[in-house]
Amino acid sequence: MNLPNINEARKRTKEKVNVYYDKYKINDKLKSLGKNKKYTILTYGCQMNVHDSENMSGIMEELGYTKEDNFEKADVIILNTCAIRENAHNKVTGILGRIKKLREDNPNIITVFAGCMAQEEGIANMLKSKYKWVDIVMGTHNLYSLPSLLENAYKDKKQNIEVYSIEGDIIECLPVKRDSKYKAWVNIQYGCDKFCSYCIVPYTRGKQRSRLPKDIIEEVKKLKEEGYLEVTLLGQNVNAYGKDLEENYTMANLLEDVALTGIDRVRFVTSHPWDFSDDMVNVIAKYDNIMPYIHLPLQSGSDRILKKMNRRYTNSEYRELFNKLRKAMPECAITTDIIVGFPNETKEDFEETLKIYNDLKYDLAYTFIYSKREGTPASIMEDSISLEEKEERLQRLNELVNKYAREANEKYLGKVVKVLIEGPSDKNNKVMGYTETMKLVNISADESYIGKIVDVKITEVKTWSLEGELV
Ligand code: SAH
Ligand code: SF4
Ligand code: F3S
Repeated sequence: MNLPNINEARKRTKEKVNVYYDKYKINDKLKSLGKNKKYTILTYGCQMNVHDSENMSGIMEELGYTKEDNFEKADVIILNTCAIRENAHNKVTGILGRIKKLREDNPNIITVFAGCMAQEEGIANMLKSKYKWVDIVMGTHNLYSLPSLLENAYKDKKQNIEVYSIEGDIIECLPVKRDSKYKAWVNIQYGCDKFCSYCIVPYTRGKQRSRLPKDIIEEVKKLKEEGYLEVTLLGQNVNAYGKDLEENYTMANLLEDVALTGIDRVRFVTSHPWDFSDDMVNVIAKYDNIMPYIHLPLQSGSDRILKKMNRRYTNSEYRELFNKLRKAMPECAITTDIIVGFPNETKEDFEETLKIYNDLKYDLAYTFIYSKREGTPASIMEDSISLEEKEERLQRLNELVNKYAREANEKYLGKVVKVLIEGPSDKNNKVMGYTETMKLVNISADESYIGKIVDVKITEVKTWSLEGELV
């Protein structure tokens, strides 16, 4: 048993990051562990969490399990949890109740509790005392040990908690079963060292560490050979990519090298405004296959709150970067994340957020009410703002988000844009895909176009999507 520990999780040392190519190994006996058995993975988190699920799917298939969409029919249920806000917690406790019921009929179901929530001290303790029937609790650092944890679970019915609060290594060569045949997630960086005062991620994912450039480029080349059209480079602060590498190699270098593989579309998330270099701006503007779409979390428009958040930029520094991007790439779509109701956010602070939003007119924003995360510095800050007030602010902000989302979409009416068609749309006889700027388009076309990048004329505009026809 290994329990998480927040004080360990907080530590950052100068220790070298190890890269392992052989941590994940399975023998022939394990390859039939899942014979005639089915697995479901329920995924609750961000893109990194989604990609971890793809790795776990890859592992489960190598063990001989087959995928089952309905968790009520699965022999192994894996919860890949997220800890970013309270509502992520609530969803998971709800599902645990339903699994407990299923186990009354079938005690052989194996439950695996994985992901960021498992990295939280309080959660691990709760599982240990209140949910003893959960077979395996594992965190974000040891995906490679899933086979041995499952093997043990069949032998020994006792709960096994294996969560490590470590800075973390880089584990290469995990199997992967991707959800899409056209778009692929590619990790370029793990962890986070920014320690924004409200955020749990630096504690659940360990220190910021960059994958080696050669391993990333090799993965992208292989994806291209397999027919993938788009890669999204993943990290919590991709702009800081390379800062921890021995060689002098930056995010701008990586973007250029990935673009030069010739893959049709390159995307990247998330960009913290802090490390966005001019070199990066130039490279993004230079290559046609680096998509003109940037997600640039603002969090708040108030300098006072930004400081308390430990975001390391001011309102005017943010604006300067935003305008630089707009100038270099006038067609570029820019989206953001905003937290309302940070501890003691005043009306004036919130007005600053509305003001910058009105000035910058984002393409879209993901907006959240601040959620207190145990162990973070913000969790002990005094907060006298009522939830009701916070909800009202969120609603006011969302009205702006909708207004400008629609305005941004209206610019597309009558234009011809490139769309990667991904699959059937919810609507009859239509397919759907995304523009280079990440706008969702529904298109009247048959399914033979799926997996192709086509020219589409936009014929109708809605707040959240566009309608178009092939040209
Ligand atoms: N690394 C990214 C953000 C990852 S988390 C960045 O810094 O840009 C995604 C978003 O969740 C954040 O941008 C923030 O807006 C929101 N978030 C994080 N912690 C939160 C909390 N405690 N309460 C509410 N929203 C939060
Ligand atoms: Fe969280 Fe800040 Fe790191 Fe983003 S940069 S993951 S918000 S600590
Ligand atoms: Fe959630 Fe962990 Fe991602 S907390 S947002 S799954 S890094």
